[in-house]
Amino acid sequence: MKLAILGSGMIVHDFLSMVQQLPAIELKAIVGTERSREKLTQLQQSHHIEKSFTDFDTCLSESDIDTVYVALPNHLHYEYAKKALAHKKNVICEKPFTLTVEQFMELKEIALANKLVLVEAITNQYLANYREIKAGLAELGDIKIIECNYSQYSSRYDAFKEGTILPAFNPRMGGGALMDINIYNIHFVVGLLGKPQKVEYVANVERGIDTSGIVVMSYPETKVVCIGAKDSTSAIRSTIQGNEGAIVVNGATNVLDSIEKQLNGEGTQAIDVKVHSHRMFEEFKEFERIIDERDMAMVEDRLTHSQLVMEVIEQALDHAGISLG
Ligand SMILES: NC(=O)c1ccc[n+]([C@@H]2O[C@H](COP(=O)([O-])OP(=O)(O)OC[C@H]3O[C@@H](n4cnc5c(N)ncnc54)[C@H](OP(=O)(O)O)[C@@H]3O)[C@@H](O)[C@H]2O)c1
Repeated sequence: MKLAILGSGMIVHDFLSMVQQLPAIELKAIVGTERSREKLTQLQQSHHIEKSFTDFDTCLSESDIDTVYVALPNHLHYEYAKKALAHKKNVICEKPFTLTVEQFMELKEIALANKLVLVEAITNQYLANYREIKAGLAELGDIKIIECNYSQYSSRYDAFKEGTILPAFNPRMGGGALMDINIYNIHFVVGLLGKPQKVEYVANVERGIDTSGIVVMSYPETKVVCIGAKDSTSAIRSTIQGNEGAIVVNGATNVLDSIEKQLNGEGTQAIDVKVHSHRMFEEFKEFERIIDERDMAMVEDRLTHSQLVMEVIEQALDHAGISLG
């Protein structure tokens, strides 16, 4: 994979701290804004990235890349992914994929029509521990209830309260607790159970943005509660309850660090099969394989999953009367 990285923010720093462990990923370029020029040069030097740019068009014409990693604020994903696809580049797009299902469908159609890889960077879907949870579901009997809580007080909430609206709390930039944090819970559940029959969202809305909220997803046999908060803190934990036992995830649904199974009448058993300490390692290893083998069947599978999640998100926002973008 000959990669251009778009952005130089928090997630890019995190990605760069891991990527040298995936030598098949060649760091060809990093692209950012003029105001971040110095940071881009520093990152280029310290991570041995071939070139840095402050203009995406120049990067597209002057670098030897086949893939673009879109790690920009949420409202820019669609525009930059579309431009990369138009230049026949594969795209790895940070979550949330886009702000609307319509934008997502457009990207999907362009990618598939041109046999380009388009995938959402969503860690939990690629973790060995997630596969372990999926495999363990059968032992739980009928799944009755799933409860996911990912609540983490954001320092940006203090700024928000004082009137400084950073992207994570900006409705025009696709911010909010659902897009930023609860989306991991939605991916977690939809990857296990598929499309829900009904989606509701009750949210604490301040200045037009959800600072916390509860998504309720109803399936014929299973009822699901997904809690995401950036204005308050709680124990971060998820439980899957069946009539024959439960699986407990101690920690966030984007990391899936510590997992226990409790079958009725038996003790607690740890079922961790973690393969790497960095949560992004497994997803990027798989993206590299998908691109190398041009595995379009897997691309379609992953896009089907992302589409279901986008549909849930849109229904939830509609239900709460929140409008983004
Ligand atoms: N932070 C996390 O832990 C995390 C985890 C998973 C996923 N994500 C996702 O990753 C994406 C980025 O999040 P982040 O936390 O890294 O955000 P961030 O720290 O705010 O960084 C955003 C980056 O995008 C750059 N940028 C803004 N507008 C641009 C433009 N027009 N052209 C080129 N670059 C531009 C910014 O540059 P300037 O600073 O110069 O404006 C900055 O480098 C989001 O979609 C988020 O949901 C983040």
